[in-house]
Amino acid sequence: MPKTFFITTAIDYTNSAPHIGHAYEKVLADVIARYHRLKDDNVFFLTGVDQHGQKVQQSAAKTGVPPSEFVKAITQKFAHLWKKLDVQYDEWAETTSDRHKQVVQGILQRLFDAGQIYNDKQAGYYSIRQEQFLTDKERNPDGQFGAEWGQVEFREEENYYFRLSQHKDWLLSYLDKRKDAVIPDFRQTELRNAVEKLSGDLCISRPKSRLDWGIELPFDEEFVTYVWFDALTNYISFAGYDAAHSTLNSQPSVFRDKWPALQIIGKDILVPAHGIYWLIMLHAIGFPDDQMPQLLVHGWWNLSGAKMSKSAGNIVDPSVLIEKYGSEALRYYLMSDIATGQDADFSEERLIERYNADLANSLGNLLNRTLNMAHRYRDGVVTKAGGDSPLARQAADLVREYNGVFGRFEVHAAISRLMEFTTTCNTYIEMSAPWKLAKDPERSDALDHMLFALAEALRVIAVLTSVILPSAARQICYQLNIRDEFRLADADWGGLPDKHHLGKPVPLFPRIETTEL
Ligand code: ME8
Ligand code: MG
Repeated sequence: MPKTFFITTAIDYTNSAPHIGHAYEKVLADVIARYHRLKDDNVFFLTGVDQHGQKVQQSAAKTGVPPSEFVKAITQKFAHLWKKLDVQYDEWAETTSDRHKQVVQGILQRLFDAGQIYNDKQAGYYSIRQEQFLTDKERNPDGQFGAEWGQVEFREEENYYFRLSQHKDWLLSYLDKRKDAVIPDFRQTELRNAVEKLSGDLCISRPKSRLDWGIELPFDEEFVTYVWFDALTNYISFAGYDAAHSTLNSQPSVFRDKWPALQIIGKDILVPAHGIYWLIMLHAIGFPDDQMPQLLVHGWWNLSGAKMSKSAGNIVDPSVLIEKYGSEALRYYLMSDIATGQDADFSEERLIERYNADLANSLGNLLNRTLNMAHRYRDGVVTKAGGDSPLARQAADLVREYNGVFGRFEVHAAISRLMEFTTTCNTYIEMSAPWKLAKDPERSDALDHMLFALAEALRVIAVLTSVILPSAARQICYQLNIRDEFRLADADWGGLPDKHHLGKPVPLFPRIETTEL
């Protein structure tokens, strides 16, 4: 069995409705997954929802419905949004499912039997919002716990602990050996610094007396599993991992053929969740170093520089934007206006600006004028004439650069290369002045040469755009009257047959009039 390109995203908490940050992460993963499908890689894209934990239990209680019903409704909102956004995942993770529960319990039991989990008593300050005990390190210089911890209370509890600190040296050596364990580099440095400071173990249980919305510990029915231990396990439980086998080699092939994954997460959940807990969990259950997942850490969308939050009332609802501008306009904005790894400021005005400038005026216009000219001057038939087009060389450069930046997950850079090429094509039209060529019978070949090259350029653009704007790319193909199945190999210049009959032009990206805002 050939190896599969396995990609995951964070699973989203179902304590409230999806926001623009969730949409960004899902579309980013979808674009990378589509790029690999375009390359003919076998792709397994896993995403889903994080349904357990205190936040969810609290939100459900506020609404006055049982958590199981509450998460069903929110889960539907997420799933519906991904459908509207054309996010094409291969497997959907819901942490309340039996399959997942079995794997979580199987791993817990194994770690318990191996002495990696032990019982202990703890007293201290506990953040309800972050669902964790706090130490003095979390105190501000004035001795108080900051507002980011929300309500903090004193607690004394018996709990179960995972021997995290025992694996600290392993994690440091792993990070030193593998330079691209975390992308971008500065995030790996941030993680390494955090690991240096690691002390103490991880509390992986919650007494049912205060939280019962979770997975019961297999060795003590008085407790449920800490939500992060539960949630992180989704990356393997929904990929066919079998907790009964302790070595990776004895795992079923459905799992081995996929693993390890490229995991896309936001910057807030690298330390400690993915960078420390998750890597150590995998190590402790027998994953060798060369089978550690790679973590691609993206930045955040902010609003006027401020963090989006429900309490600040500045959440941007992706469904509303889709309603107003369409799903592809939102996909385009989210992929083009942020550099992978960096933060960006969300602005509806920017969304409109980019759409109008890049999609309506540049790409849409190129398609429309090419088809119009072909119909006006040549009854829609484009004919090969003359030698190599100046666009051929540019297209080859584009494909090479596009692959290069995708290798570094720089989707925004791929888009700007595509847009440069589109601009080049539009400039080419203006320079060649087809309206003059059309009046001169002696330059009839030059006109054919140009029209054929433009149609070919649009075909290449459609292939490369398909990972970002799947529906627009299909419509370009429809208008060009070519197959809308995309493969990267088809982005090579020269695929359009001679005497090809183009379809009718239909405006693809109608301008958004700013008065709508
Ligand atoms: O953290 N911009 O869930 P979550 C960009 N359930 N990305 C953002 C963002 C923003 N403004 N806000 C959040 C959780 N995200 C856990 C994950 S994984 C086993 C469990 C990203 O709903 C955030 O960084 O709070 C994370 O990657 C994802 O959305 C889900 O966040
Ligand atoms: Mg969060």
